Amino acid sequence: MNPIIGIAVLLSVLQMSQGQKVTSLTACLVDQNLRLDCRHENNSLLTIQHEFSLTREKKKHVLAGTLGVPEHAYRSRTSLKSQRNIKVLTLANFTHKDEGIYTCELQVSGQSPPLISNQNVSVLRDKLVKCDGISLLVQNTSWLLLLLISLSLFQAMDFISL
Ligand SMILES: *[C@@H]1O[C@H](CO)[C@@H](O)[C@H](O)[C@H]1NC(C)=O
Ligand SMILES: *[C@@H]1O[C@H](CO)[C@@H](O)[C@H](O)[C@H]1NC(C)=O
Ligand SMILES: *[C@@H]1O[C@H](CO)[C@@H](O)[C@H](O)[C@H]1NC(C)=O
Ligand SMILES: *[C@@H]1O[C@H](CO)[C@@H](O)[C@H](O)[C@H]1NC(C)=O
Repeated sequence: MNPIIGIAVLLSVLQMSQGQKVTSLTACLVDQNLRLDCRHENNSLLTIQHEFSLTREKKKHVLAGTLGVPEHAYRSRTSLKSQRNIKVLTLANFTHKDEGIYTCELQVSGQSPPLISNQNVSVLRDKLVKCDGISLLVQNTSWLLLLLISLSLFQAMDFISL
C-alpha cells in the first residue's frame, strides 16, 4: 500500500475512535425558557451517555440525561430534543435562581478509561441573548458516509496501482 494512503486510512481510523467530542455549548432565551444547544461529533458506532448539569455555588445539579439521575425539581421543567449532532435542552421558566455554569457532557461507554468530553457555559439572566436568529439548523454531513466514500476511493486507487 502507498504510504500516503496508509497514513490517510490511519487518520480516518483515529478520527473514528475520537469522534464523540462535545464541540460547543451555547445558551439563549426563548420567551422565559433557557435553551442550551450542545453540539457534538457523532460517528454513531458506540453507545453514548449524555448529561446536562448546572453547577451553582459549587454544587452540581443534574438536569437531564442518561449519566446521573436528574433532580426531581428539574425533571418537570426540562425537555430534551436530540438530533444526530446536537442535543437541545430547554429549561422552562428560567430565573436568577437558575444562574450558574451549565455543562454538557458526553461519555462513551464500553471503554476504560471511559472517554469523557464536555463543554461549559456560564449563564447569567441579564446577559442572555434571545434565540431569534440563532439557527437550529444542524450541520449534519455524515462523517461516516464521507469516510466510507474515501475508504472505497482509497481501495480503488490501491487496486489501480497494483
Ligand atoms: C412556568 O410558569 C408558568 C406561570 O407561572 C406556569 O403556568 C407553568 O406551568 C410553568 N412551566 C413549567 C414547565 O414549570
Ligand atoms: C448519533 O447518531 C445516531 C443516528 O445516526 C443516533 O441514533 C445517536 O443517538 C446519535 N448519538 C448521540 C449521542 O446523539
Ligand atoms: C467544565 O467544568 C468542569 C467542572 O468545573 C471541568 O472539570 C471541565 O474541565 C470544564 N470543561 C471545559 C471544557 O472547560
Ligand atoms: C440534515 O438536516 C436537514 C435539515 O435540518 C434534515 O432535513 C435532514 O434529514 C438531515 N439529514 C441527516 C442525515 O440527518
